[in-house]
Amino acid sequence: EDLTPIKDVYEDYFLIGNAVSAKEFEGNRLELLNLHHNLVTAENAMKPGYAFNDQREFDFTAEDALVEKALAEGLKIHGHVLVWHQQSADWQHSDENGDPLSREEALTNLRTHVKTAVEHFGDNVISWDVVNEAMNDNPPNPSDWKASLRQSGWYKAIGEDYVEQAFRAAKEVIDENGWDIKLYYNDYNDDNQNKAEAIYQMVKEINENYAADNDGDLLIDGIGMQGHYHLDTNPENVRRSLEKFISLGVEVGVTELDIRAGDNNELTEEQANAQGYLYAQLFKLYKEHADNISRVTFWGLNDASSWRAAQSPLLFDKDLQAKPAYYAVIDPDTFI
Ligand code: G3I
Repeated sequence: EDLTPIKDVYEDYFLIGNAVSAKEFEGNRLELLNLHHNLVTAENAMKPGYAFNDQREFDFTAEDALVEKALAEGLKIHGHVLVWHQQSADWQHSDENGDPLSREEALTNLRTHVKTAVEHFGDNVISWDVVNEAMNDNPPNPSDWKASLRQSGWYKAIGEDYVEQAFRAAKEVIDENGWDIKLYYNDYNDDNQNKAEAIYQMVKEINENYAADNDGDLLIDGIGMQGHYHLDTNPENVRRSLEKFISLGVEVGVTELDIRAGDNNELTEEQANAQGYLYAQLFKLYKEHADNISRVTFWGLNDASSWRAAQSPLLFDKDLQAKPAYYAVIDPDTFI
C-alpha cells in the first residue's frame, strides 16, 4: 500500500518532525522517517548530560554524527535541549554532597554550557529548547510564576532568573553570528490550565523586560507544547493553552506528541479508534492555528520504539504498519 506522506499533507501548514537516535537512519526505519517527515529532534543525544567526556570537557562527537546523518537526508534539526533537570551534569550546579554551588559559579557554568553548545551546532539547527520543564505540575497559584518554578539544581544555585539567563546567553551567540535560530521554552502537561498560566506569565515577563531594552525584540521566540497526551485528554484544554501562548506573540511548536492508550503493547479496536479520534481533533486544531505553529513533532517513529511502548502511543505499530491514528492525521475531517 502506498501511504500518503504526512509532510506533504501539511506542507502549507507546518513542518512534521520525529524523535531520532542512530537506529532511525537505517533500513525501513529510515524509509519511514524520510517519507513522512522533514525535521528531527534527537530523542536523547543532544541533552546536556551527553555534552562532556569523562574529564568534564565539552565533547560533541556523538551529537555531530547524528547531526551529519540528519543533514545528509535533507532533514531540518531542532536542538533538544540546553538546560534541564534530567539527563544533565549535576556538577554544573551542585557539589559532591548535592549542595548548590555559589550563584556565580553555577551561572558561569550555565552560560558557558549554553554558549558553547549554541556556537558549536550553529545554524545546523533551526531552533533550540533552551530551557525544558522548569515549571511545577499544576501549580496552585499560577499568577505567581516564580513560586511555580521547579526546585531544580539550577534553580537552587542560581535563583529564579536562571531561565532568563539561559535565554540571554543563547541570544548573545545567535546575535553575534547573525543566525536565524528560534529559542524555545518547552514543557509538558501543557493542557493543564494552571501550568499553562504559569508558563504564560513567565514568558510574558521575561519577554517584556527584554523588549524594553531591545527595541521590542523577543528573547523567547517560541513555546513548546510537548503534547504527551492520553485518551482522557480534553482537546478543549489543549486549545485554551495553545491560544493563550499564541496571544503572547510567540510561535508555538508541538514538540513531543504522543497519545498513550491501552497497555501490554496492544490496543483494542475501540482504543485504536479513540486514539485516532483524538489525533484527528488535535490536527484539526493545529490546522486552524497553523499561522502560529512552526512544527508538529511526534515522539517516536513507531509504538515499539516509544518511551511509552506498552501504551502504543504513535501512528505506526511494532511492524511499522499504519494504525487508525495515521489515517486520522492524514485526513482529520473524514476521521471525525
Ligand atoms: O544510554 C543508556 C544506556 O547506556 C544504558 O544501558 C540504558 C539502561 O537503562 O540506559 C540508557 O539511557 C536511557 C536513555 O533514555 C537512552 O536510551 C535512560 O535510561 C532512559 O531514562 C532515557 O529515557 C529518555 C527520557 O527522556 C529520559 O528522561 C527517553 O528515551 C526519552 O524519550 C525521554 O524524552 C523526554 C524528553 O527529553 C523531554 N520531555 C519528556 C520526554 C519523555 O520522558
